[in-house]
Amino acid sequence: MPMVFGRRVAAYAALGALVVATAAAANSATTPGIYSTTQAAAGSKVFEANCASCHGENLEGGAGPALSGQNLKTLAKNTKLTVSQMYTFFSQEMPLNNPGSLTSAQYLSIMAYILKFNGYPSGSGALTSTSIKKATMIITSLKS
Ligand code: HEC
Repeated sequence: MPMVFGRRVAAYAALGALVVATAAAANSATTPGIYSTTQAAAGSKVFEANCASCHGENLEGGAGPALSGQNLKTLAKNTKLTVSQMYTFFSQEMPLNNPGSLTSAQYLSIMAYILKFNGYPSGSGALTSTSIKKATMIITSLKS
């Protein structure tokens, strides 16, 4: 679906992802835990109810792109999208059939779940609307 893809690239460009790439790529040894396991568990349920129909029960993709594995690695390489930018994108544009319909707490929990699923370590505190702004590491998959 080239039109849809074009819109996503345009949205990312507007976020500055295609222009500035100052953030360092994440790796599991140096990546700080920016979400809590409780938050990720809540996010799993929110994702299942609102996102899995298009992105897959296991983030493997379907009508929408995979939010895991090789697809995230390719995304990181091509767009240098940060965690903060991905969050901004999906909290405004997703679910595709009802954009922006969830609460900030729900969107933040989904971000925690996506991070956990892709091998990012958890920390002692939950991701908040303040801390997400400082999440400048490039989102990828830390799983091989
Ligand atoms: C009705 C189907 C549908 C639902 C439901 C949906 N998405 Fe999407 N999503 C898409 C499609 C299609 C794209 C590609 C859009 C584009 O390229 O503009 C996309 C793109 C994305 C992207 C960008 C991925 C990339 O490779 O750049 C993210 C992140 C995302 N969705 C997250 C979510 C989250 C989180 C939810 C639940 C709150 C959700 N989506 C619900 C269909 C959906």
